[in-house]
Amino acid sequence: MTTALVTGASAGIGREFCEQLAARGHDLVVVARRAERLEEIKAEIEARHGVKVEVLAADLAVADNLRRVAERVGRRDEPVDVLVNNAGFGVKTSFLDTPVEKEIESVDVMVKAVVVLTHAAAGAMVERRRGTVINVSSVASFMASGTYSAAKSYVTVFSESIAAQLHGTGVTVTALCPGFTHTEFHERGEIPVDKTSPLAKRLWLDVDRLVRDGLADVDAGKVVSVPGRQYKAITGLLRVVPRPLVRSPRLSNRHRPRE
Ligand SMILES: NC(=O)c1ccc[n+]([C@@H]2O[C@H](COP(=O)([O-])OP(=O)(O)OC[C@H]3O[C@@H](n4cnc5c(N)ncnc54)[C@H](OP(=O)(O)O)[C@@H]3O)[C@@H](O)[C@H]2O)c1
Repeated sequence: MTTALVTGASAGIGREFCEQLAARGHDLVVVARRAERLEEIKAEIEARHGVKVEVLAADLAVADNLRRVAERVGRRDEPVDVLVNNAGFGVKTSFLDTPVEKEIESVDVMVKAVVVLTHAAAGAMVERRRGTVINVSSVASFMASGTYSAAKSYVTVFSESIAAQLHGTGVTVTALCPGFTHTEFHERGEIPVDKTSPLAKRLWLDVDRLVRDGLADVDAGKVVSVPGRQYKAITGLLRVVPRPLVRSPRLSNRHRPRE
């Protein structure tokens, strides 16, 4: 039996990873802050798929909690075969209108935790000469949109780099870059989004399809996965247009000084 550990398992993309990885026969370790939700997910998934689910409630922005998760990821007696670094969040405010503590929290969850857990997992995986690391990044990693974009750029480049370093070890690393996906992400961040216009309907991805396509790319050994034809086109364009256009103030969440 193999085990997958998923961070941000209590909702959205992480929850869907749990569903699809359990359907593939993996036992799970589910990580997030909301312990009650994780217990509900454990009960549902164990009943539906007959796998074992271990609940590990943790706030990845808290150093002691992160250490606890890293210890679980690196255990040799109960190995983790698949690590999904998925936990994350967005904020609606521009950089200066966001408390710096929130900015640091986003770096802790979406950058520091990804580095710490990848390090713990990959060390143990290389010894066994097999393992899979999936880092959930974003289409925003190709853009210039605040700390979120910068954190996700880190995740994409970090994944590319570690994938290259681990080439030939039996351990693969993939950055999954979703575009707009129906989850709790935007509501929780109070980020206003259009989900109803004809253009929006073409852009938004269903979470089950996103994860299915992402896992197919992982199976195919892709290092960067961008599910959805619309986002393959957008990221293709973002890679070739002159960078001053990508970082145009008109496209940014501009700071409005108070009167
Ligand atoms: N939805 C999109 O359009 C979209 C697009 C591109 C990339 N992404 C990325 O996809 C990933 C998953 O987001 P989602 O869309 O599934 O959002 P979501 O539905 O809001 O789920 C976010 C998950 O992250 C967990 N989380 C947040 N802060 C945490 C912390 N400090 N410690 C532990 N867990 C934490 C949440 O659990 P608790 O609150 O219970 O802790 C929840 O399980 C994120 O990395 C996000 O940046 C999403």
